[in-house]
Amino acid sequence: MKRILTGIQATGIPHLGNILGAIKPALRLAAEPDTECFFFIADLHALTTVRDAATLKQNTYNTAVAWLANGLDVDKVLFYRQSDVPQVAELSWYLNCLAPYPMLANAHAFKDKSGRLADVNAGLFDYPVLMAADILLYDAQWVPMGKDQTQHLEMTRDIAQAFNNCYGRTFVLPELRMAERLMRIPGTDGKKMSKSYGNYIDIFLPEAQLRKQIMGIVTDSRPLEAPKEPDTVFTLYELLASPEQTAAMRQNYRAGNYGYGQAKQALFELILERFKSERKRFDYYCKRPDEVESLLAQGAAKVRARADKKLKAVRKKMGFTR
Ligand code: ADP
Ligand code: TRP
Repeated sequence: MKRILTGIQATGIPHLGNILGAIKPALRLAAEPDTECFFFIADLHALTTVRDAATLKQNTYNTAVAWLANGLDVDKVLFYRQSDVPQVAELSWYLNCLAPYPMLANAHAFKDKSGRLADVNAGLFDYPVLMAADILLYDAQWVPMGKDQTQHLEMTRDIAQAFNNCYGRTFVLPELRMAERLMRIPGTDGKKMSKSYGNYIDIFLPEAQLRKQIMGIVTDSRPLEAPKEPDTVFTLYELLASPEQTAAMRQNYRAGNYGYGQAKQALFELILERFKSERKRFDYYCKRPDEVESLLAQGAAKVRARADKKLKAVRKKMGFTR
C-alpha cells in the first residue's frame, strides 16, 4: 500500500498548469490499486498572501470544486481542508524547532516571493515547514507535485531526518512523484504558468473569456506564410492532443501558411473538448456549496483521527507527558 499526499493552495481557481501538473497526475495515482490518498486544500498556506476572509473562503471552495470537477472520488480519497486539521499547526511548531534557519533562508520560492512582495511575513518564510508537517503527519510516501516544489520536498526530508536522528525513527521520508513532461506547464507569456504571474489559462471560464485568454498567448511576429517553430501554443496543444492530432499540428507549423490565430483556435477547441465533463462538473458543484462543505467535513473527520494518533506518538518522543 502506497500513501500519497498532495495539496493545492487556496489562492484562486486552479489553472491548467495546476491541473496538468498536480491534480490530474495525483488522480491518476489515486486510480492505481493499493494506494491511499490524502488530497487537501492548503488554506493555511494561502494565509501567507490572502488577507480577506470572504476571498479565502471563496478560494477554498474554488479549489475544492476544481478537484471534484477533475474527477476526485471521495470514497477513494481522503479529501479535506488543511485548517480543519489543526494538529498540523502543532506539528509545524515542533518541526520549526528542528529546521535550520539558513535552509529556510535559501529557499528559492521564498527568495523569489520576498523579492516581489511588499509584505514579507514570517509565514512566507516558514511555508516549507508547514508543508513538511502536512506530509509527515500522515506518513506520506509519495508526493505528486510540480517541479517548482522539489526543493520544498527536499526540506521535508531533511527535517524528517533531523527529527528521526534526534528522537528515534518517527517519520517516513517522502519521495517526489512527477511526470517529466508535465513538470513546467508554460503560461500565456511562455514563463511557468502561475496564479501569481497572471499568465494562466482557467479552463473553467465561460467560453468567450476562455477564448480571450488563449488568444492572448504571446507568439513571435513570423508572417502567416512562414514555417513556425514549436512555441507555447504548440506545447499546450501537444499536452492535450492525441499523437495524431499532434503530428498534424506539427505539420501545420512546419509547412507555413498556418497562422498563430488558427493554432490558438485549435487549442481553444481542444481544451473545450478535453475538459467538457470537468467544466460541467465545475458548474454543478459551484451551485452546491453545501454539498462541497459536507464532503470536506466528512474528509476532515477521517483524517483528524489519523493526525491525532500520529501527533500523540510525536509528543511522546519529544518528552511531553500527554
Ligand atoms: P501557482 O504557482 O499557480 O500559485 P501553486 O503554487 O498553487 O500554483 O501550485 C499548486 C500545484 O500545481 C503544485 O504542485 C505545483 O507544483 C503545481 N504547478 C503550479 N504551476 C505549475 C505549472 N506551471 N506546471 C506544472 N505544475 C504546476
Ligand atoms: N505548496 C504547495 C503549492 O504551492 C501546496 C502544498 C502545501 C503542498 N502543502 C503541501 C503540496 C504538501 C504537497 C504536499 O501548491
